[in-house]
Order: sequence, then structure tokens, then C-alpha cells
Amino acid sequence: MTGEKLPQNRYSGGLLKPTAKNFSSMTEKRQILVTNALPYANAALHLGHVLEYTQTDVWVRFQRMRGHQCFYVSADDAHGTAIMLKADEKGISPEQHIADMRSIHEADFRDFHISVDNYHSTHSQENRDYAELIYNRLVENDHIAKREITQAFDEEKQLFLADRYIKGTCPKCKAEDQYGDNCEACGATYSPTDLINPVSVLSGTAPIEKQSTHYFFKLPEFTEFLKTWTRSGAVQDEVANKLGEWLESGLQEWDISRDAPYFGFEIPNAPKKFFYVWLDAPIGYMASFKNLCDQKGLDFDQYWGPDSSAELYHFIGKDIVNFHALFWPAMLTSANFRTPTKVCVHGFVTVNGKKMSKSRGTFINARCYLDHLNPDYLRYYYTSKLTASVEDIDLNLEDFIQKVNSDLVGKVVNIASRCAKFITKGNDGVLSSNIADKALWQQVSDAGEVIAEHYENREYSKAIREIMAQADAANEYIAAKEPWKLNKDANQHQQVQDICSLGINLFRLLLTYLKPVIPAMAADGEAFLNDQLTWNSNQKPLTGHKINNFKPLLQRVEKEKVDAMIEASKQEVVQAAQVALEGPLADEPIAEEITFDDFIKVDLRVARIIKAEAVEGADKLLALTLDLGGETRNVFSGIKSSYKAADLEGRLTVMVANLAPRKMRFGLSEGMVLAAGDKDGIYLLSPDSGAVPGQRIT
Ligand code: MSP
Ligand code: ZN
Repeated sequence: MTGEKLPQNRYSGGLLKPTAKNFSSMTEKRQILVTNALPYANAALHLGHVLEYTQTDVWVRFQRMRGHQCFYVSADDAHGTAIMLKADEKGISPEQHIADMRSIHEADFRDFHISVDNYHSTHSQENRDYAELIYNRLVENDHIAKREITQAFDEEKQLFLADRYIKGTCPKCKAEDQYGDNCEACGATYSPTDLINPVSVLSGTAPIEKQSTHYFFKLPEFTEFLKTWTRSGAVQDEVANKLGEWLESGLQEWDISRDAPYFGFEIPNAPKKFFYVWLDAPIGYMASFKNLCDQKGLDFDQYWGPDSSAELYHFIGKDIVNFHALFWPAMLTSANFRTPTKVCVHGFVTVNGKKMSKSRGTFINARCYLDHLNPDYLRYYYTSKLTASVEDIDLNLEDFIQKVNSDLVGKVVNIASRCAKFITKGNDGVLSSNIADKALWQQVSDAGEVIAEHYENREYSKAIREIMAQADAANEYIAAKEPWKLNKDANQHQQVQDICSLGINLFRLLLTYLKPVIPAMAADGEAFLNDQLTWNSNQKPLTGHKINNFKPLLQRVEKEKVDAMIEASKQEVVQAAQVALEGPLADEPIAEEITFDDFIKVDLRVARIIKAEAVEGADKLLALTLDLGGETRNVFSGIKSSYKAADLEGRLTVMVANLAPRKMRFGLSEGMVLAAGDKDGIYLLSPDSGAVPGQRIT
């Protein structure tokens, strides 16, 4: 039976017949630039983001394997009110906050094996330069309008309020606590000025109406251009249809400015006016690429110039289509840059059929996943479900476990683990020079073009189905040949080698096709095969080639780990809520009740700090000399970590004037100044201005 040629359809034949052998993209070397939507620098990445970054990365890795030049850039989207408020809340500068977030995001990208060539920030010099350049060109082309608008304004915070920062009673159904633009109870949409009893979410005060000059991009002038562009194949048909509705009902001018205070770039020749975050966010794609060009000596204009022959792809979620398929191409056109080749829109992740939910533990942060599970599992699962449509993708956790275990472990890795031992033990690790079943090899090899076409078209679920159909064929072959039985007969040695060598070669083909999806497992597989896989690896089998010892390439997904991840995710939410709700009061409950007579025994006085100095040998204490309006006191106070001595001199504070003097190591302390504080900071009490040293406090 050695080398017997089996009829071609004896094993599963795959789902699709291969089409033309070399489809065009294979022949010429393409120049491709790819981006994903830049994550906001106000939150950690979650498994929704990971869907997008997996979709993008698989496509990029596939293009690179095909031998094309494919750059992939990303960045943090660092501007806007939300980020400014978040930094405020944390008590740090926005610059510090975005730097912290950027390193967290970069670590998530790295650990999910997202192969960006550059990760930058929209708060960068390159982005400022391109934002100004593009804006100035829009102005020159008369595509910017300027006019007064009236907006809600928080007088306490001195901030204009976006709709989501205003709440009130719905004017229609009278439901309370509704956001400024729509009612969650009855679905009505309105403007915040229609709300009954509106309040600012930031201060709780009623907003006033205030006028301000804003700058607008004249989007309606691009209506005809956009009608053509959106139907040119640049977006999926279903997306073009949705955009078509908007285009028919009439576009409006787009407000691209925000008033100070705002974390962003000031608009040229418009003091205290800033670019709206969405103006400079997509420009961040250019900025990150420019930064890469400067590192690598690439030609920026070759990719972004008006005559660029390179391809430009943006991968985004369905919630941000208008920014990428209306505003962005219009801006680029006006500013004399090329427009995207394609904007690839995906749907949203649901978990177990429902929107990700914090209370169910299904709002899973990327880091929480990584703490429990192998990134390749999720990359594989998402890929097996992704299509070129904008439909939502369900991460069903049971199905996730089942699919990864049965496909990757049960079908793919299994081939190698069944065959490898006969080669390493039986033949010193050298693969046979004979291909036992040429038709089967050819079938799995030919499938490469069909699979490539699916990847190219972002029909990943079809690619995976085809790969798994080929894996089934390989497994059927080995199961039918039963090399473990033949191996008992010394005369069958060569046949065992031939069968298992073909098994390893089929495994190698499957791994080639899966390499864009599961890069870590593919790298281990390459080490085992002693071979670097490219998309051309399917042209020739490995014969007479030495492979390395087989080590298990992937562990099964354990349900316990998935459960532990959900539990940890719930815990994260509880902890975040505790930080928000508990505060210091919970750490130190209010003391036992006292009477007024008890209280009045404590003689509190206004005091002026006339001298403050460090105490030698005490790293927490300052020695204060206090003027009590007629007498002075020396007091040692443990406030050195929060105050510089020199800054305290001259200021008023409050002291306990009748506290029994205490002898300390450094001298006598005659009283005590009052301060609030914990490990994070100390806050010295002071009376309002006008108070006089010596006055009693009751
Ligand atoms: N900062 C903007 C994008 C600027 S691009 C110039 C933004 N950031 S985001 O962090 O909110 O979202 C980043 C990407 O993740 C978007 O494409 C968004 O659609 C996607 N996703 C966010 N949540 C998602 C899911 N639950 N599921 C799938 N993708 C989702 O938008
Ligand atoms: Zn309502």
C-alpha cells in the first residue's frame, strides 16, 4: 500500500473549490497602510476593543505573510473633556494621565500580540502640525464657517456643558434623571434646553445659557462628493445604505471647536478655542505614521499624498462611522490628501448574547482576560466568528471553550502530536522524502488560495471553516492509516514514516493558514517544524527535513479559568465602586456622641504661623511658631510631607490652645494645629480671610 494514490474525494474535500490559482493580489507587491480606531485615553481596553484589534491584526499579518509591505499604526486618542475631567478626578495633570493610560494600552496591545509598527498619541507634535495644516487648508478653501451659538454653561465649573453632562426631567414623559439629548424611558430626543429642571452633572448646579463663537466645517458642500465616494466600494454596502439615508436627509455643518478649558490643541488664530477631539483624532492616524516615517526613513507622501498609489485601510466599529466615512474623507479631500481605500466597519461584542455587563462580570477588561487565559484562544474564537458585515459578534463562553478545544487542540495540534513521535523516535527527526498521498497534499495546498481570498475580504469565519475542513481531511487520513498499528510491524517502518511525514506536512499547511490568527502558537510550531512559514510555504512540502522534538503547542481551555476570569471581573467592578462610594468616612467612622459642654472644653483659636522650620532628625515634623494675638506658642506638627516650611509663614490656621503641653524628643509642644488628612495628603485648616489671630472658634 506504500505510496498508494487514494481517490481525491476519499477524505473531506474542503468547503469550496479553489478558484483561479493566482488571484491578482499575489502577483504584485502592494503598499498598504492600516489603522485601527484609536482607543480613548480615559479607560482600560476591554474585550470589545480586542475584537477590533484582532480583526485588524489578522488582516495585517496576513498581508505581510503574502509578501506585501503592510504598515500598521495606532495611537491613544488623548484629547477632550472626558479626559480632562478624569485627570482632575485623579488629581493629576492630563499629560500625566494620558501617559499612564498609554503605557497600559501599549501593554495590552503587546500582550494580545497586536503587531502595530508604531503606537503613538494624538497629543503629539506631529498631530498638532497636521491638525493645523489641515485646518489652515480648510480655511483657505473657505470650508470653515464661524458663528455664535448658545450653549449650556456651568457657572461653578466655568465650563460649557456637552449634552451628556446635563441631566433633568424629560419634557415628554416626565421621567427624572435623563441625559441632555435623549430620554432612556420614552426614547424622546430633544435639546438640553428643553429639559425640566436641568442640572450640570459636574457640579449639581443649574446651567445657564451662554453665547460663544464656534467654528464649523462646511460638510454640506461635500454632499455630492460623499454620495459618490460612499458608493465607490470604500465601505460595505450596508454601511453605504445607512450613510445614503443621512446624505439624502441633508448634512449639517460640523462644529469643530470647543471653548477653553479643554484638553487639546488651540485653533490657529483663535485664542482660547480648541479643536474638538474628533477633529484631530483621525489626523492621529497620519501623526502616528509620520512618526514611523521619521524612525524608518519612509516617504509620508507616498501614502498620504493626493496621488498616492498605496492602499489605506481604517478598521473601526459601527458607532463611529459618520466620523470616518463622512467628515474624514471630506476633510482629506479639501486639504489635498488622499482618501481611504476602505473603511472596514465591524459590529459590537456581546457576551453570552447580551450587552457586556459589569454586574454580570461580562464587562471584561483586556488585562483581566490576559491574567487568566491565553490570548491566542480569543484571537482564534473572534476570527472564527468575524465576517465582513457589521453584525454584532457574540462571545459565548461555553462555545468559546468548546470551539478552541475541539478545533485548535483537538484537530490541529492533535495531528502533530500523533505523528511527531514516530518521526523523532523512528527516524531521528528527519521527514520522509516521499509524499504518501500526493492528492491529499495537493488538496490542502490548493485550499491556500481560497483561504487567502477569504482573509483578503475579511470573511474570516469562512477562512476558518475552510481550514478546519482541511484539518478534518488530515485527521481522517491519519485515522484511516492508523500508523500506531503499522508501527508494531518492523516491515512497515517506511510506511509509518511516510504517513506521519505527510501528517506533519499537513499540520504545517494548517499552521501556515492559521499563522495570522494565532501568532504565538505559530511561532512554537515553527520552532518544532524548524521552518519559517510564509504564505508560499504551501507550494512545497518539507522532505528529508529535520524537525525538532514535539512539545504540546496549546493547552486545552479550562472552564475553571473562564469562571475565575468572570469572578475577577465582578470583583474589579465591586472594588471600583467601593473606591467611589466609601471614602474616608468608612475607614474612620464618626466617634461617640458628646455634649456641648464636652465640646466647649476644647479651646480652638485662630493662629498665625509666624515661623515654620524643619526639625533636625524628624522627617515628618515641622516646628511652628504661632501668634495667638498676644502670645506665641511653639508647636510641632506632622505636616512636613504636604507643606514646605517657607510657604506656611504668614498664613492663618486653627489650633487647640488649651491642650496640655507635651514633651517631645525635640522640645515642648504647646498645643496642636488642626488638619485633615490620610496617607495621600494633609490639609491644614484655615479660617476665611478676615479672621484675626486669637479669636475663639465655636
Ligand atoms: N477614540 C475613538 C476613536 C477615534 S478614531 C480616530 C473611540 N474610542 S473607543 O475607545 O471608544 O473605541 C475604540 C474602538 O473600539 C471603536 O472602533 C469602537 O467601535 C470599538 N469598540 C468599543 N466597544 C466595542 C464593543 N463592545 N465591541 C466591539 N467594538 C467596540 O471611539
Ligand atoms: Zn421621556
